[in-house]
Amino acid sequence: MELIKAKDYREMCKLAAEKMIKLVMEKPNAVLGLATGSTPLGTYGFLKQDYEQNGTSYQQVTTFNLDEYVGLDGSHPQSYRYFMNKNLFSGIDIQLDNTYVPSGQVENMEEECLNYESLLRTKGPIDLQLLGIGRNGHIGFNEPGTSFQTNTHVVELTESTREANKRFFDSIEEVPTHAITMGISSIMESNEILLLVSGESKAPIVRDLFEKEQTEEIPATVLKSHPNVTVIADEEALSLLTEKV
Ligand code: F6R
Repeated sequence: MELIKAKDYREMCKLAAEKMIKLVMEKPNAVLGLATGSTPLGTYGFLKQDYEQNGTSYQQVTTFNLDEYVGLDGSHPQSYRYFMNKNLFSGIDIQLDNTYVPSGQVENMEEECLNYESLLRTKGPIDLQLLGIGRNGHIGFNEPGTSFQTNTHVVELTESTREANKRFFDSIEEVPTHAITMGISSIMESNEILLLVSGESKAPIVRDLFEKEQTEEIPATVLKSHPNVTVIADEEALSLLTEKV
């Protein structure tokens, strides 16, 4: 894993956006893997700004999102489809038909998992997968203990993840209990992975990621065996590393 140290959140986002823009300029029909949450918001802001100022085009780009809450329709303000439309897709010239977010509101969730996986195979592989990391080491919604062999699947969210995400809902009861997520194996099939980490609250998991052995108890440690991973982390996130970088 290559580590790039950023001064702060803003610099992390800027570096990530520059990498994504470079890819789209070199490969206009790139396939991007996208994440939601607080971490990539600033990066999406820079992509929108670049589109406005420089006109980088996403007309031929395809995107795949990592995950979606089960039970939330795409028009629900806390759904990840809504998040993506609002925070990125509406601000660039991407064709919405080329943006894939797993659906959390179909009758047959098993079938949706298989469909998503087959879409990933026919339209993919993903050229660059953007990832955030949970404080417990989850990537996508692959919680600790998830097999590294998993494809897209439905998961029961842990209490710590529901607790961490309750800030977006009126109460903890409203946070969905299940989600559909690309599996660890699906994520690992991406040609390149870009993990973004910012802030003090992520410092313990960043230390674990770099200093512990690979284990399914810390899902993100799977990235150690991917040949092309870049981690962009800010100073606060790196503050607990034993070997200072
Ligand atoms: C979101 C996702 C999650 C988040 C993680 C970190 O699509 O897959 O794994 O990346 O929970 O969330 P934030 O960025 O809000 O700290």
